[in-house]
Amino acid sequence: MKADKKLIQWVEISRQAFLNNVGEFKKRLGQTELMAVIKGNAYGHGLLEVAGLAAEAGIKWFGVHSLEEGLALRQAGFRQKILVLGYVPLAQSSQLIEAELRTTVYNLQTLRALSAASRQLKKPIFVHLKIETGANRQGLPTSKLDNFINLIRKSPGLILEGLSSHFANIEDTTDDSYPRYQLENFLKAVNWFEEQGLKVPVRHIACSAAAILYPETHFNLARVGIGLYGLWPSKETLVSCRLRGQEPLKLKPVLSWRARIAQVKTVSRGAYIGYGCTYRTTRPTKLAIIPVGYYDGYDRSLSNSAYVLIKGRRAQVRGRVCMDFIMADVTDIPEVKLEDQVTLIGTEGKEKISADQLANLAGTISYEIVTRINPLIPRLVV
Ligand SMILES: Cc1ncc(COP(=O)(O)O)c(C=O)c1O
Repeated sequence: MKADKKLIQWVEISRQAFLNNVGEFKKRLGQTELMAVIKGNAYGHGLLEVAGLAAEAGIKWFGVHSLEEGLALRQAGFRQKILVLGYVPLAQSSQLIEAELRTTVYNLQTLRALSAASRQLKKPIFVHLKIETGANRQGLPTSKLDNFINLIRKSPGLILEGLSSHFANIEDTTDDSYPRYQLENFLKAVNWFEEQGLKVPVRHIACSAAAILYPETHFNLARVGIGLYGLWPSKETLVSCRLRGQEPLKLKPVLSWRARIAQVKTVSRGAYIGYGCTYRTTRPTKLAIIPVGYYDGYDRSLSNSAYVLIKGRRAQVRGRVCMDFIMADVTDIPEVKLEDQVTLIGTEGKEKISADQLANLAGTISYEIVTRINPLIPRLVV
């Protein structure tokens, strides 16, 4: 789809890049199934747009955060296996079952509520127990597994389909000792289930970095997020990949963020720009006023530091990022005019501005840069 002249800003999602990234992960994963992690509005890329591409790529598992995301997918007609990775209030247990969503369980109360709801609806639910292996986020301690199993054994509506866990420190370092410790804990839990005579068909702990670096974490399902969007989980992941003599995946960024110029004007030398008068021009300066601000997800910490691309050239952001506007210096791009295209993330001609670059400038990670792009901005699959 081509950007309409009526749009003042939009996000382009490259179908070709997404399919390329799926292919790269499929090669790495071999027999292991791929779950597309599409929580957080598909990391800002657009839940339904990305689900459509993932379905086209033949992906059978979707990972979402909330009941609401799962329901939105069902309402849009997606019939894939959808696993809720986050938390669903006890009072909404029935909705999970009615929509045939799978859910992650780490509280006994959740399991009881699901058991009661499934009895009432006379309909089963597939559950995945999340094992605490060292992230100390969600997860049930292995010392409490007995209670969960007893309840599952007594509840015919609860189908224990999966065991899962999540790595705490796989992206931040090239040292693999903590992931190995977590993997050991996970394996102990997996073995414990086998000793109990419980066959749990699906086991999953791998995120993008684990999928790329450690085949021993793949089991039969890998939950891949950031990599599908063409972004490396971290520099350390890429370095680890090279250190291990592995061929790095050829990932292509999927998202471009674009807008149109709302005003072009020239101000004199010594003029202040924007709130707080934080920038003062050192020459007569031509400015492009761009209708994108922190409301849209363009971080305020990019004030006076980031650049955008206009006509394939860099234009420095001057002054503070406002709620709905930024100002860019286009003095050296004289042909700039009203409604010309601006690239906030993406490529124009020979120039590029990546989510990683913005993340470095903003003191965060690419995950946050893309995920926080306002969901109200149209996503166009191109
Ligand atoms: C539980 C869970 N699984 C998988 C992922 C995917 O991780 P990544 O985006 O690094 O592939 C996430 C991401 O935050 C997660 O929270």
